[in-house]
Amino acid sequence: MCGIFAYTGNKESLPILLDGLQSLEYRGYDSVGIYIPNAGIVKSVGAVQELKKKITSTMVGTSGIAHLRWATHGEPTEVNAHPHVDCSDTIYVVHNGIIENYKELKEKLISLGHTFRSATDTEVLAHLIEHQLKETEDFELAVVASLHEVKGTYGIAVSYKGDPEKIIAARLGAPVVLGIGINKYFIASDASPLLRHTKDVVYLRDGDIAVLTPQNYRIRTYTDVEVIRKKQVLDFDVEQVKKDGYEHFMLKEIMEGPQVIENTIRGRLVPEKGLVKLGGLDAVNEQLRTIERIIIVGCGTAYYAGLVGEYMLEEYAGIPVEVEIGSEFRYRNAPVDKHTVLLAVSQSGETADTLEAIREAKRKGALTLGIVNAVGSTIARETDAGIYNHAGPEIGVASTKAFISQLTALALLTVHLGRQRGMSIDVGRNITKELKLLPEKIQSVLDQRELIYSLAQKYAGSRDFLYMGRKYNYPIAFEGALKLKEISYIHAEGCGAGEMKHGPIAMIDTEFPTLAIAPHDSVYEKMLSNIEEIKARKGKVLAIATEGDIRLTDIISDIIYIPQTLEMLTPILSAVPLQLFAYYTGVAKGFNVDRPRNLAKSVTVE
Ligand code: G6P
Repeated sequence: MCGIFAYTGNKESLPILLDGLQSLEYRGYDSVGIYIPNAGIVKSVGAVQELKKKITSTMVGTSGIAHLRWATHGEPTEVNAHPHVDCSDTIYVVHNGIIENYKELKEKLISLGHTFRSATDTEVLAHLIEHQLKETEDFELAVVASLHEVKGTYGIAVSYKGDPEKIIAARLGAPVVLGIGINKYFIASDASPLLRHTKDVVYLRDGDIAVLTPQNYRIRTYTDVEVIRKKQVLDFDVEQVKKDGYEHFMLKEIMEGPQVIENTIRGRLVPEKGLVKLGGLDAVNEQLRTIERIIIVGCGTAYYAGLVGEYMLEEYAGIPVEVEIGSEFRYRNAPVDKHTVLLAVSQSGETADTLEAIREAKRKGALTLGIVNAVGSTIARETDAGIYNHAGPEIGVASTKAFISQLTALALLTVHLGRQRGMSIDVGRNITKELKLLPEKIQSVLDQRELIYSLAQKYAGSRDFLYMGRKYNYPIAFEGALKLKEISYIHAEGCGAGEMKHGPIAMIDTEFPTLAIAPHDSVYEKMLSNIEEIKARKGKVLAIATEGDIRLTDIISDIIYIPQTLEMLTPILSAVPLQLFAYYTGVAKGFNVDRPRNLAKSVTVE
């Protein structure tokens, strides 16, 4: 969802800005642009590679702003690409977010004589600042006054020709990180492009405005000229955001699965006592003993993780759970009180709909918890307590390693809450013991990637796909279908296998294959019947089954095996071959799987 990057310091800014853009490329790739004071502005449709072709060696300077666009208002054309400029070519703005009152602001500015060049909402910011500059004759005050007039969300960086070394950045509802170096300062939409320059960062809060020069930085709000924000040290390094020899981030991140689960459970299991330790929940542990209901909120893949969490928490902790997508919860009037927990699941910790759901639940008095991967992100900061996934940065747009770490964190939470309310020590021991074995078991799934590759080749020509599963693997059917849609653009539908006969089976014929998730669990027999029903309609079936299952081999030949584990943990294993299947199908069809069309990694607008 759009990426902004800015630099001011004493080095050549062009390579720094291009490198920053490249690291943020997963946030948007419709169009791209860069501005270096006194050197000019260059924009291009497409990604950074396209921009590079247009850049000349004359772009010399020691500051600048840059942008990657994921279009909301206005088509992805060069004119609509950022930076946006005022009438007099003095104010340059890059923006992530949506200016909701842009139409009325635009009308007002046009009536004042301003001429607009693009169809974007962002351009009003440049003209507003130009207008305010005439009144105040001060760059900083002009930005502050302009932001007063704006409704909506923004992460912005602004450069002014009259003060070329200064960058002003601001945040409201869209992430902005300030990187602090020695005689160099940076602004970025997330921390990944900052790593090669510095590990010291400040995450701006809503309403913060940062003023950067090569010598220092200062953070202010609309009202206070200076506020102090705590510096944080990034806990990951450059190596973690490289492809490590893999062709795509998506494959690298799937292959990291065993390590990711090690990291999510590290230091948190006490198998001999059947307990887990979740330091991030210490502050609310007493309150958790009295909660009566959990509402899990997430979007996309995180929502499907939440659905698995519902099954775990209700079965083992006995707490009633509901799961909702953020965009629905935030707008309906769900009854919520102080005995309700709103549990937000989010990889980025910045998804606008999930964040607003948290704010809505807070207003109604709920306790809010997060299962978040990005340390220091808005959701991590705004929830009362939470569990970090520790999956490391996820760059591939389609979520993979974060998903299995979300499921693992939900299993940890289940043991934690379950043991507070009646789960026996034996059950606690059993789950923690099995959690420990997961990394090795995931590795054995990954070792079958050649088989999965060949199955992907076989089915890549399909136009449609049905994914079906039951109980714990019901949400995995939806997640598997989502992955295939996102990466290979094959139409895929998830369905509960029991529900198949109420509609989806009508679509089945020789050209409409089904992927059945049928591990050896409490609903295995029912899954076998559903597979038979598909076969009876001449549908092709590809299955995920448990190692040693010989009954399935009598019915179908395309089977990917996963090791035996506890039923509640099977989704952590069954999700992995579905990720690989989607990956290899996308690659077989010649798509750039790290940049699926129309999608963005972190959706910071509604
Ligand atoms: C986007 C991504 C998905 C992700 C969803 C939620 O749509 O493309 O992969 O699942 O946002 O993101 P979050 O960061 O909140 O987990």
